[in-house]
Amino acid sequence: MQPPDTVRTVAELRARVAAWRAAGERIALVPTMGALHEGHLALVRAGRERAERAVVSIFVNPKQFAPTEDFDAYPRVAEKDRAALAGLADLVFAPGVNDMYPPGFATEVTVAGPSGGFEGAARPGHFAGVATVVAKLLIQCAPDCAMFGEKDWQQLQVVTRMARDLDLPVEIVPHPTVRDEAGLALSSRNAYLSPEQLAIARKLNVVLSRVAGELRVRPVAEVLAEGRAELERLGFGPIDYLAVAEPESLTPLDVLAPGRPARLLAAARLGPVRLLDNMAV
Ligand code: PAJ
Repeated sequence: MQPPDTVRTVAELRARVAAWRAAGERIALVPTMGALHEGHLALVRAGRERAERAVVSIFVNPKQFAPTEDFDAYPRVAEKDRAALAGLADLVFAPGVNDMYPPGFATEVTVAGPSGGFEGAARPGHFAGVATVVAKLLIQCAPDCAMFGEKDWQQLQVVTRMARDLDLPVEIVPHPTVRDEAGLALSSRNAYLSPEQLAIARKLNVVLSRVAGELRVRPVAEVLAEGRAELERLGFGPIDYLAVAEPESLTPLDVLAPGRPARLLAAARLGPVRLLDNMAV
């Protein structure tokens, strides 16, 4: 199967999308930073179930990386990504940094509410970078729906809030986290882990499942403190957070009301990687 065509400019993207629209076809957008794995591909397949056409954007967005983060080292494997999308996506949109942010670019989209804690606290400016690029991608492509993974739960809430607040005419569609056979959430950055670190990383979801199971039966603070201690014992580095929050607003909860949804969220460092995971409580 042939890999999908790649376009690099907004004008080319809009021309392709306009032709599909004229033929009465719906369009799904899957925003990514490339280095595609099965998690990304699952989003593309789910997009294709909702729309006749799937567009995958591949753009390593400098605005969402802090100067200390891995923007330069982030894996860029364009040809491999294109091959992985053969028979799955109809078009790859891969703009250059100067197309996305030409000289003089001065606009930023900031979303308060769900951006505040957790990743927003650990990575100042990160969600403004995400919201700015996702707003641009949604306006550039004008899809019927856009697919986002629950793997990045807070990002999904930030994007959903933004689309609602700005009346963007798009449905933001969540997709469950895709995991490996041991339950580790797939991530492009898992490639940085040594075999020993990978074995430890695979225990994160096991601890989270246990914590999630106990949260409704024992005091929240006690269960979280034990979970944290267990992660440290297993060899996780600094644990940025292990917390329960209201799923959409991301307001931290220290008591769980019966029947009210809650989300368990964790970020922990392991060697070169900051692992993120989350699950329903
Ligand atoms: P990236 O990390 O490449 O992820 C692209 C999309 O794939 C996101 O919606 C993410 O949640 C989803 N995803 C990643 N791993 C997944 C997994 N194991 N299971 C399910 N979905 C998974 O997230 C970004 O890029 C960027 O912030 C972006 C939204 C593209 C803006 O730059």
